[in-house]
Amino acid sequence: MSGIKANGQKRLVLISGRAHPALAEQIADELGSELVPTDSRTFANGEIYARFDESVRGSDAFVIQSHTQPINEWLMEQLIMVDALKRASAKRITVVAPFYPYARQDKKGRGREPISARLVADLFKVAGADRIMSVDLHAAQIQGFFDGPVDHLFAMPVLLEHFRNQLDASTLTVVSPDMGRVRVADMWSDKLGAPLAIIHKRRDPLVPNKVTVHEIVGDVKGRVCLVVDDLIDTGRTIVHAAEALKAAGAVGVVIAATHAVFSDPAVELLSSDAVDSVVVTDTLPLPPEKIFDKLTVLPIAPLLARAIKAVFEDDSVTSMFDGAA
Ligand code: R5P
Repeated sequence: MSGIKANGQKRLVLISGRAHPALAEQIADELGSELVPTDSRTFANGEIYARFDESVRGSDAFVIQSHTQPINEWLMEQLIMVDALKRASAKRITVVAPFYPYARQDKKGRGREPISARLVADLFKVAGADRIMSVDLHAAQIQGFFDGPVDHLFAMPVLLEHFRNQLDASTLTVVSPDMGRVRVADMWSDKLGAPLAIIHKRRDPLVPNKVTVHEIVGDVKGRVCLVVDDLIDTGRTIVHAAEALKAAGAVGVVIAATHAVFSDPAVELLSSDAVDSVVVTDTLPLPPEKIFDKLTVLPIAPLLARAIKAVFEDDSVTSMFDGAA
């Protein structure tokens, strides 16, 4: 039987959706465990089915899914797995969604818009989730959308470790690509001992993914700029930021982002001369066509595994981040 037992009582079980099985397998390896064998299928008409091949009764279950394209399918699969766990008498069910689906729809920016991030939290709750674990939520207040504990993890320690010996703080400026990321960029600036610059950008509310960069607040001339963002989708935000920084005299632009959504034309845009290197984590799967020369992908599984272990053993998750929260 898969899983880890604590005190001869609790049993941790790991379940994976079909979106990013490699990530779930790496988490299981980190924990010295195995994934519960699961029969997951999509029927001819698109309906999804999932059944666990062994008992999950009384278990502390973690359902790992990566919300990549087709995102609605993988969300539905995770909901169905949570429902199956609930009906099979799992004692506690944690949704592990490293990239929280629909996180950018977190408020009504205009009349008659949905708040889809809240709807997703409600769906998890109704399906039977007791708690949620996610990495770098687009907006921290999404935690409050779910009526239960939310373990909000930060990829910053993973990314920082990569940069620690690569960047010289005396020539570095940390850049927030928009006003929404200033708090996170400020933490990076503190950790690296480098000044902060902010890009003021405006969106056309009628055109999705369309961004116009306006002005840079801070000193970037002659500096290497480290632009930090939670996600790169089409790449337009970050590449426009990189172009603006280079036009303002930056000598280098390095990009760090947690979630590599990389919808078209991200790979093409990120390969441009405005960008010197891109560092992301593998919260989302990266097929070969989304890999390019300037890209470094860091594994997120060790962080998720540590957090899962802490939750299972009733240890602190906050202490993993040394005040970064
Ligand atoms: C915006 O608020 C986000 O943090 C990202 O900067 C944005 O959603 C990325 O989208 P894209 O890569 O399509 O510009």
